[in-house]
Amino acid sequence: MELYQATTTAPVNIAVIKYWGKRDAKLNLPTNSSLSVTLSQDDLRALTTASCSPTFTEDRLWLNGVEESVATSSRLTACIDNLRQLRAELEQENPSAPRLSTFKLHICSENNFPTAAGLASSAAGFAALVRAIADLYQLPQSAKDLSRIARQGSGSACRSLMGGYVSWEMGEADDGNDSLAEQVAPQSHWPEMRAAVLVVSAERKTVPSTAGMQATVATSALFRHRADVVVPERMSAMKRAIKEKDFEAFADLTMKDSNQFHAVCLDTSPPIFYLNDTSRACIRFVEELNRSAGKVIAAYTYDAGPNCVIYYTVENEEIVLGALKKCLANIDGWRERDAALAASLPEGFDSRTLDAVSQGITRLILTQVGGDPVSIAQDKGLIGQDGLPKSLKGH
Ligand code: DP6
Repeated sequence: MELYQATTTAPVNIAVIKYWGKRDAKLNLPTNSSLSVTLSQDDLRALTTASCSPTFTEDRLWLNGVEESVATSSRLTACIDNLRQLRAELEQENPSAPRLSTFKLHICSENNFPTAAGLASSAAGFAALVRAIADLYQLPQSAKDLSRIARQGSGSACRSLMGGYVSWEMGEADDGNDSLAEQVAPQSHWPEMRAAVLVVSAERKTVPSTAGMQATVATSALFRHRADVVVPERMSAMKRAIKEKDFEAFADLTMKDSNQFHAVCLDTSPPIFYLNDTSRACIRFVEELNRSAGKVIAAYTYDAGPNCVIYYTVENEEIVLGALKKCLANIDGWRERDAALAASLPEGFDSRTLDAVSQGITRLILTQVGGDPVSIAQDKGLIGQDGLPKSLKGH
C-alpha cells in the first residue's frame, strides 16, 4: 500500500506570563502577549504520527486510543486545511512531488502522562499534530511560521513548537499573520531551570479555558487594565529576567502574574474559581519557603485548574525538594536519585502549611526546561503499514 508517514514528539509548556483573553475566537488571536517555559519531553510529551495514503477515504484521528471526529472540530480542520494548503503550494512549485495534499490523513496521538493528572494536554497535542503533518508534507516553513497554524488549534499550542523560553507575541493584524511564537532563549541559555508539578486530586475542570477567558473579556473590569498596561510591562521585564538569568525577578513576575490571572477570573461574572484549598496551601508553602530561606528560590504558577507548578533552579534543588519531601515523601513521582535526599526545612519555617499540602497532593512530576519537538524514527510510529493505529491490532 502506498503510505507516507512522519512521527514527532512535542512538549508541554507552562506559562509564566499568562494568555487569558481572545480578541478573535475563530483565529485564536489573544488580547495580550504571553511567555512560557517549555518542559522536558523525557517527562511530559505528546507523541504523534501523521500518515496519508491515496487509499484513505476520510481524515481520521485517534487520541490516546479513542477515535475522535475530525470533521466536527473546527480547530482540527483549521490546522489541517492550512497545512494542506502549504503542501499544495509546494506541489505546484515542484511537479514531481507526490500529490500528498490530495490524500486523506490518518493521525494517531498519545500522551506519556495520565490525562487524569489534569495537565493541559492540548498545547502539546496540537503542537505535535502540526509538527508531524508539516514533517510528513516536508514543508520548508520555520517553527515560527508553523506557530501561526498551531495557534488555531489551541492558543497555548503555538508556544510548544519551540524549546527553552518562548513568547507568543499577540500581533495587531486582523488576519493573525503577526500573532506568532518566538524563542526568547533556547534551553541551553538557562538549562538550570527545574519544575515540580504538584498534581491536586484530579477533579474535573469546572470552566474550560476557552469559555472562561471569553467570560472574562466580556465581564471583568480589571481585565482591560491587565491586558493593556500590566502584561506589556511584565513581558519586557520577564524577557530581561530570562536574558540575565535573574531567578528572583523571574520568580517574582511569575507569581504575580499567576495571582493576577486568578484575580481576573474571580473578577469575572459569574466568578471562576480554578484554585482550591490545596492550591492555596501550596502558595503559602512556597511563600513560607522563600521567607524562611531568606531569598526567593521558588515560584508557583497555576493554569486553569488547581495543579501547582513550582519553578526553581538546580542550585536550590536540595532546599526545595527537601521541603517537599517533608510533606510529600509518600507519593508517586520521586526519582531514584532523590532517595538519598533528606527531608528538611529551612530554619524558622512555619510548618502549619505542611498538612494541607500533604493531604491534597496526589502525585509529583519532577522535570526541567526542555528542547524543541523531536522527530522520531518510522518504526517507532503509532500507525502500522495497514494505515491504522498499531494499538488497535487484535480489536
Ligand atoms: C491559563 O491555550 O487552552 O493555560 O486557545 O482556547 O485553546 P484556547 O486556550 P488554551 O488556554 C491556556 C490558558 C492558560 C494560560 C497559558 O497557557 O498561557
